[in-house]
Amino acid sequence: MAVLDLRNLPDFTVDPYPYYAKLRAEGPVHTVRTEEMERIWLIVGYEEARAALADQRFGKDWRTSGRWTESESESESDAALSANMLELDAPHHTRLRRLVVREFTPRRIEALRPRITEVTAQLLDAMVPRGSADLVDALAFPLPMTVICELLGVPDIDRDAFRTLSNGIVTPTPEQREADPVGAMNAYLVDLIEDKRCSPGEDLLSALIRARDEGGDGLSSAELVGMAFVLLVAGHETTVNLIANGVRALLDHPEQLALLRADPGLLDNAVEEMLRYDGPVETATFRFTREPVTVGDTVIPRDQAVLVALASADRDPARFPAPDTFDIRREPQGHLGFGHGIHYCLGAPLARMEARIAIGALLERCPDLARDPSGGELDWLPGLLMRGARGLPVRW
Ligand code: HEM
Repeated sequence: MAVLDLRNLPDFTVDPYPYYAKLRAEGPVHTVRTEEMERIWLIVGYEEARAALADQRFGKDWRTSGRWTESESESESDAALSANMLELDAPHHTRLRRLVVREFTPRRIEALRPRITEVTAQLLDAMVPRGSADLVDALAFPLPMTVICELLGVPDIDRDAFRTLSNGIVTPTPEQREADPVGAMNAYLVDLIEDKRCSPGEDLLSALIRARDEGGDGLSSAELVGMAFVLLVAGHETTVNLIANGVRALLDHPEQLALLRADPGLLDNAVEEMLRYDGPVETATFRFTREPVTVGDTVIPRDQAVLVALASADRDPARFPAPDTFDIRREPQGHLGFGHGIHYCLGAPLARMEARIAIGALLERCPDLARDPSGGELDWLPGLLMRGARGLPVRW
């Protein structure tokens, strides 16, 4: 199968959807080349994507793959950050997920509603008198970052420093890739956990530290770093882009914005449609084949790197009629924006609540919200993992 070099496709990061449509029309799986890897198997059809996400023949822990023994040794920092749910399979994955899952049930998250509403109001109080702003800096970034830091019990984290470290791992520019962002992130989290160990509280990170100290089903030092990493990074990078992509979709479709303003009861469904139409996670994280797996008419050999293109699956006309139409009244349920299977997003109830509160309050406080053309061109995030732009200039 010919390898499609995504680096040569003009404007792929600006608008990948026409490319995905073409690939889907040709078949559910393709091989592509990216900055990161020479050959990746990319699954683009909805049915095949959903099936792959729930199929344990696609593994997550690279240390158990044939490729691993052939090749690399791992730095201590890599090992610690990789000791997280998203890079493990059952039963290790099950054990880690069990330790935190009760903190993220819809009921537990409901208890955060007053605080999320309050933080949103404070951010809008600061933003609204200005008349124009970068929505990412003013609302979409600080809201989820504040919430996840408070939940973990690290409210005083240096947000800008953390944002740079996190971006360096999730959406690196070539220069950032060179600068060992993993080592820097590991050092940062080791310090953070040490500080928390010295002054524990009634928060999630303290609870996780205690669970380790008391023995039993506890966490190793590396697992603690891995857990802090996945919660802090997954807890904000994604929600930032859900809010920003969602607001951008509304501003680019004035008739949909008008519908929502006329009937705020549509908000929950609108957020689901935002996740389907232009969700923040473009491809799920890397998987590899533990054995040869047939997808459509193609056999993916063993030990191959595989990405499931959620953004493509959610625009598959075989699953969603007129998939390129942003329609806040459609039934977007069944979208893969939060993944599927055992790695289904732990933070989905939190992300939904943050997005609904933020977008609802924004529309209420800014009746004339519009894009601000004087803000210049959007700076699209590089790489296949995240879909979004670094900023969203708006005025009102
Ligand atoms: C709009 C916001 C979000 C989106 C679109 C999103 C999307 C996803 C997706 C697609 C996956 C599965 C990845 C895969 O299978 O490779 C995932 C997993 C995960 N997400 Fe989210 N996420 C969001 C917000 C959050 C938040 C707020 C948290 C905070 C706690 C979070 C924590 C996690 C964790 C821990 C996992 C790994 C679960 C596991 O491996 O069992 N996410 N997320």
